[in-house]
Amino acid sequence: MATRKPTHENGAEPFVPEHISLKTLQESAKSCQGCPLYLHATQTVFGEGPTAARVVFVGEQPGDAEDREGRPFVGPAGKIFDRALAAAGIARSESYVTNAVKHFKFEQRGKARLHKRPKPGEIGACSPWLHAELRLIQPDVLVLLGATAGQALFGSSFRVGASRGKKLPSEWAKVVLATAHPSSILRAPLHEDRERAFDEFVADLKLVAR
Ligand code: URA
Ligand code: SF4
Repeated sequence: MATRKPTHENGAEPFVPEHISLKTLQESAKSCQGCPLYLHATQTVFGEGPTAARVVFVGEQPGDAEDREGRPFVGPAGKIFDRALAAAGIARSESYVTNAVKHFKFEQRGKARLHKRPKPGEIGACSPWLHAELRLIQPDVLVLLGATAGQALFGSSFRVGASRGKKLPSEWAKVVLATAHPSSILRAPLHEDRERAFDEFVADLKLVAR
């Protein structure tokens, strides 16, 4: 008889409930052990928003603040995201906001927990949750915030660059748009570069609003 691998090497699929509602998904994801990332994070940070939302935003993974609060995009990247949504005339309360990976991956440096990029294996392991969210909501517009979100849906070779601002064909939504991750705006070293990156981000979000 073949021995079964430990659960944390089989991905999230075995943890996804048969009956999909936002409640059952959020509840079941709390005890996901589909990859090793649950071991050190505080909690699962699942997507949130109305299931009637016509727009879904997908980020990378929770950061330090999100890990503590249990909600997506509530830290520094979330502040930029909120400002950009407001500038583009999009109501966050009418959107569904989630991440490709549902647990915070970090490196402990003294007291600080530094963000670590999820590996393709971790993105793949977590993708059944994102797939279930999209099957549930069936959005008109799906916005990929950065490469990781794209990789979760289109495979590990996905990059934002060539696809940015274009309508991508997909089974997941009528329109899929890839744009920058809000954290990349924060990382630009010069004020003027941050301003320009922010303006470009808002311009992409305005396509969504239309
Ligand atoms: N960055 C993300 O990709 N998602 C969050 O929820 C917060 C920061
Ligand atoms: Fe499960 Fe995703 Fe967390 Fe890994 S990161 S344990 S697959 S919810």
